[in-house]
This record gives sequence, structure tokens and C-alpha cells, in this order.
Amino acid sequence: MQLNLDSNQPAGIQTECLVIGFTEGGPLSPTAKAVDEASGGSISRMLESGDIETGLGTTSFLPGLPGLAAQRVLAVGFGKQEKLNLARFDRGCLAAGKALRDHPLTHCHVCVHDVEFGEIDIARRLKQAALAIHRANYLYTATKTLKDDAPAPVQTASFQGEDDLQPAIDQADAFASGFEKAKNLGDLPPNICNPAYLAAEAATIAGQYENVELEVLEEDAMAELGMDALLSISSGSANGARLIVLKYSGAADDQAPVVLVGKGVTFDSGGLSLKSGENMMQMKYDMGGAAGVIGAFVACVKLQMSVNVVCIVAAVENMPDGAACRPGDVVTSMSGKTIEVLNTDAEGRMVLCDALTYCQKFKPDVIIDAATLTGACVIALGHHATGLISNDDALADDLLAAGQSIVDRAWRLPLWEEYQSQLDTPFADMKNIGGMPAGVLTAACFLSRFAEDQRWAHLDVAGSAWKWGSDEGATGRPAGLLAQYLLDRSS
Ligand code: BES
Ligand code: MN
Ligand code: ZN
Repeated sequence: MQLNLDSNQPAGIQTECLVIGFTEGGPLSPTAKAVDEASGGSISRMLESGDIETGLGTTSFLPGLPGLAAQRVLAVGFGKQEKLNLARFDRGCLAAGKALRDHPLTHCHVCVHDVEFGEIDIARRLKQAALAIHRANYLYTATKTLKDDAPAPVQTASFQGEDDLQPAIDQADAFASGFEKAKNLGDLPPNICNPAYLAAEAATIAGQYENVELEVLEEDAMAELGMDALLSISSGSANGARLIVLKYSGAADDQAPVVLVGKGVTFDSGGLSLKSGENMMQMKYDMGGAAGVIGAFVACVKLQMSVNVVCIVAAVENMPDGAACRPGDVVTSMSGKTIEVLNTDAEGRMVLCDALTYCQKFKPDVIIDAATLTGACVIALGHHATGLISNDDALADDLLAAGQSIVDRAWRLPLWEEYQSQLDTPFADMKNIGGMPAGVLTAACFLSRFAEDQRWAHLDVAGSAWKWGSDEGATGRPAGLLAQYLLDRSS
């Protein structure tokens, strides 16, 4: 979708649809007021009659209003003014985006960011509105025959505003590209999106943008580095693993990079600790962390942010065959620490631990990993919050703030050393499972052992990277949180 600015009077803008925001019982927004005047008071009358709904997430199409150049108006409800915040605003805009997607129009002009609330300025509201409408108009098509009645996503959206809002449009555009890339990778089936596909995707990105370098390590190179934890998971698969390293230089060479590490398990069967059919069904999105860091990287390089970033994807398929790792095997990680693999379905940490060791060669300022790591995180936080675990309070606070401000929110959980003993085993330095209690934390404890003396944070996106129910599919999270974190650092 193309996003741009238009500063003409809303009533005079030729468009298939003028998108206007309303609050419940609140004052009319400037656009609503102007349109009301141009149309001889029809907005006021329709509010009165209930033809315009104002509850949060409601949408009403109003065709053929007199005095307007637009073919129709989409009235978007944001609920009670005093309860409005960025998260609720985002929900309203998402509903508007879906209404636009499901209507056979392809251009709209959006004014909802003139609805004021809290301390949030107009540039932030515009960015959020543009992102939400873009997200709602994402349509997966890669492996589908398009029917005549398929949704018609918006192709071009213009936003009310003068040139001073151009940075907000540029940010929305870059973030949207990141989200779109992350969603698409998450949605692709595992027979297409395998480790080699992710590597090819990284090569495309490296070719497309300035100041990006790519290095891809195949299994022999990883073996030479001693990455036996990662390779023990890959050994049961016919698709070879890849360690994908995208480097972006947006700041001085001596500025220590932000290192992003993504869990790229392109399919998680569980290995010999095989999952049930029910639990295996969605496991193509076990590369959601990788998709998220790639998405954030795309946003970063598209905006050419002033920050150095290394984006590492540990791309592996977890399958059971005669060469597969057995429960009870002890493997030596790249760090030298030994691991007893008691459950081959706890593969994410096996893959990530070697990536965490490897990435330290870039002398990172901070390391942030993103992973669909545990079912326990879904139980703890559900689908709305990403789990955040960190050994550094300042880093954790920055990530929480970034997530808040782009409505891709995380919630911090404790990394107390008391949990570490759940990983004890007589047979190795650690085992790869910590039992039922606090599964999300023992997984993080495991990772923390490979990020000692580093400022490190872990994002468990098992619940937030996929949406069940209506509009099922990859969410693209945490691409937004990470992109915003990088942007906050670069400005
Ligand atoms: N990829 C899964 C975690 C997951 C579960 C993501 C549900 C999304 C939805 C991970 O590899 C896994 O299987 N974790 C196990 C760990 C256990 C064996 C310690 C789990 O959560 O059951
Ligand atoms: Mn697993
Ligand atoms: Zn997994």
C-alpha cells in the first residue's frame, strides 16, 4: 500500500472514501466539523439518528453526502474520549482498515489522526493510524487462487496533513514494510519457507538496501565453529540449517551494534519428542522470532536509521529421522557448555544458545533475541503481551517503552537466579528443560547462561506472533517493538 500526504480541504478531496474519526459524546473533530458544514449539517443529523456509530471499533459507511467531493465517508468510532489512548486508537484504526479492506474500494483519504487524546501528538497518531490501516489491508496471496469476491485491499491511502508530517508517513511506511515482510514470512508454508528460503530472503534484502552486508553460514561452517547444540536439532532434517547474518552500518564504525537474534525454526515437529497433530499444526510460525527481527531490520534499513545493527537468524528445521538427536543425548555448545537434551521439542533454546555465543564476536552494545520459545508463555500472558526477560533494567525499560509507544507491547517477567537450579542434571552442565513450573522463565534462564556479561533481553513471542480465530495468521510481532527501539536509539 502506498502512503502519502494531502493537505487540501477534506471536503474537496476527490477520493473513493473519506475516513473520519468520532468519539462518543465528544466534540466533533476538525474534519468532522468541516464535513458537517459542507454537507449542510448531515453529520450532526446522522449522529443524532444513530446512523453514525461512535463506540470503539465501530465503522459506518455513509454514501453520497452532499457538498463533498468524496464518494463516501467512513465514520470510525473511537469510543469515549476520556478513555481514549494509543492502544484503543490503534484498535479503532484497525477496524477502519478492515472495513476498507472488505469494501471494493482501493483509494481512501484518512483524517482520523485529528481526533485528540492524552499527550499523544498528531505525528504519533498519524503514524499509528497509517500502520494500523496498512496492517489490516495485508492479504496473503502466495499460495491461493484469488476468487472474484476476494477482499480488495486499499492500494493508496492519503493522509490529511502538511509537509511537517512527512517524517511520520516515512516511519509508518518503513514500519509497515517491516510488518508486511514479517507477516508474509510467518504465513508462508514450511515446505516453501525453509532455512534456505530465509537465507535467499536475506540476500534479497541485502541487495535492495544501502549499507547492508550479508553472510550465510552453512552446516559445515557451523560445525567448524563448534555449534553442536544448533546442529543437533538440525540433524534430523533433510533441509540444512543456515546461520544468516545481516549487517547494517548506519552509524560510525566504532559505535557498538544492536544485535538482534531470531529463532528461525521453519518447522517444529518436536523432533523425536514428537508433538501431537493438534500441537504441530501451526508450527510453521516457529520462525516468528526470525520474521520479527527481519521485519525490524527492513524498517531500519528502509529509513536508513543512524544505528549499527546485526541481525542474526538461526534457521533450522526440527524433524525426527534416524540421524535425529535423542532424548538423553549430551551435546557441547559453541560456548563449551554441555547440554543434556531431555526433550527435543525444547529446540529453540538449543538453536539460540549457539547464535547467542556466536553474536558476541560483533562486540554488541545490547543483544535482543526474539523467539516463539514456550507454550508456557502463551499460558502466562495469552496473545496480547510479548514476554520480556532481561538481565539489564535499562534495556528492559527501553524495550517496554518502545512497545508501548507503537502498541506492540511486552510485559516483563523475572529472571531470578532461584529458577536456575531447575536446569540442574547429574549428566551435563545443564539440561534443556526445567519442568512444569515457570516454563517461560526456565527457558530464559537457559538462554541467559549464553549471554553472561552481556546486556541481553529475550522476547518470547509464542503468544503474540500468531493470531488465532478471525483473520488467523502471523501478526508480524515483534517487528514494531524492535523497529521502534532502533528508531528511539537512532534519534
Ligand atoms: N515452538 C515451541 C513453543 C510454542 C508452543 C510456540 C506453542 C507457539 C505455540 C517450542 O519449541 C516448544 O515446543 N516448547 C516446549 C518446551 C518444553 C518441551 C519444555 C513447550 O513449550 O511445550
Ligand atoms: Mn519445540
Ligand atoms: Zn519451537
